Amino acid sequence: MQVIQQIEQLKQVVRDAKRQGKTVGLVPTMGYLHEGHLTLMRRARQEQGLVIATLFVNPLQFGPQEDYADYPRDLARDCELAESTGIDVLFAPAVDEMYPAGNGKTLTFVDVEKITASLCGASRPGHFRGVATVVTKLFNIAEADVAYFGQKDAQQVAVIRRMAEDLNMNVKIVAVPIVRESDGLAMSSRNKYLDSAQRQAALVLSRSLERAATLLAAGERDSSLIVATVRDLISQEPLAEIDYVSLVDPLTMEALDRVESRALLALAVKFGKTRLIDNMLWEGK
Ligand code: PAF
Repeated sequence: MQVIQQIEQLKQVVRDAKRQGKTVGLVPTMGYLHEGHLTLMRRARQEQGLVIATLFVNPLQFGPQEDYADYPRDLARDCELAESTGIDVLFAPAVDEMYPAGNGKTLTFVDVEKITASLCGASRPGHFRGVATVVTKLFNIAEADVAYFGQKDAQQVAVIRRMAEDLNMNVKIVAVPIVRESDGLAMSSRNKYLDSAQRQAALVLSRSLERAATLLAAGERDSSLIVATVRDLISQEPLAEIDYVSLVDPLTMEALDRVESRALLALAVKFGKTRLIDNMLWEGK
C-alpha cells in the first residue's frame, strides 16, 4: 500500500491505473479507522481495480464549537489497519494541500439545498456544505468510478447521492450497512470519547431503533407514535440528551406523517460532550 500526501502524485497513480483499464474505488474517511471503515475498504477491494482510501479531517465540515482540534488522529495505526484490507493507496493530504489558501479556506463550495435543512444539517450549520465540497474535491482528484460510504451517516449518503446526480458526476455511490459492536453500538471514531458509563448508556440507541423496528414490523404506521416511543426510551437514560429523533424519507430527509414504504428513523443523541448518530432504514413490508 502506498501512502500519498500530494494531490499530483495521486493523480499520476490514477492516470496509470486508468490507462491499464482499472476502475477506481474510493473510500473517503476522516481516519481513526474502525471496522466500519475497513468493511468499506474490503468491499471496494473486492469490486474495483485500484482502491484508494482517503484520510483527511476536513476543517470545512466542523463548526467553530465542534471537535475539529480534538478529533482522534493516528496515522501509523490507520496505515496498518488500511493495509490489512489490501487497498492500494492511502491518500492522507495535509490541510494546506487540500486548501492551499491556508487555514482550511476556500472560495468555492458545493451546496446541496433542502436535504441538508433538517436533522444533522439543522444541528450543524455548514456541515454538509463542508462535506459536499471536500467529497467533490476527492472525487475529482481520484477520478472515482465508485465511492463507498457508511449508511450510519444516512443524511450524508443522501446529500452525496443528490450532489452526484445533480452535478452529473461520473461516480456511482454505494452505501454499506452500519457495522455494530457485538452489543449493538454503531461503530464510530467518536465512540473513543465515551467514558464507560456513557458507553453503556449509549446502548439505548440501538435498543430504541430495535423497538421501532418491532413496532413497524407489527404494522404500526403512525410516525409520531413511533418517534414518541423512541424518544421515551432514550429519555429514560439519564446520561442521554436527545438532539433529534425523526422518521424521514430516506432520499429527501423530509419528515413523514405515516410510514407507507421506505423510511429512515434517524437519531442524534449527546452523551456528555459526545454527539452520536444512529439510524434504521425501513425497507417497507
Ligand atoms: O464521513 C466522513 O468521515 C466524512 O464526512 C467524509 C465523507 C470523509 C468527508 O470528510
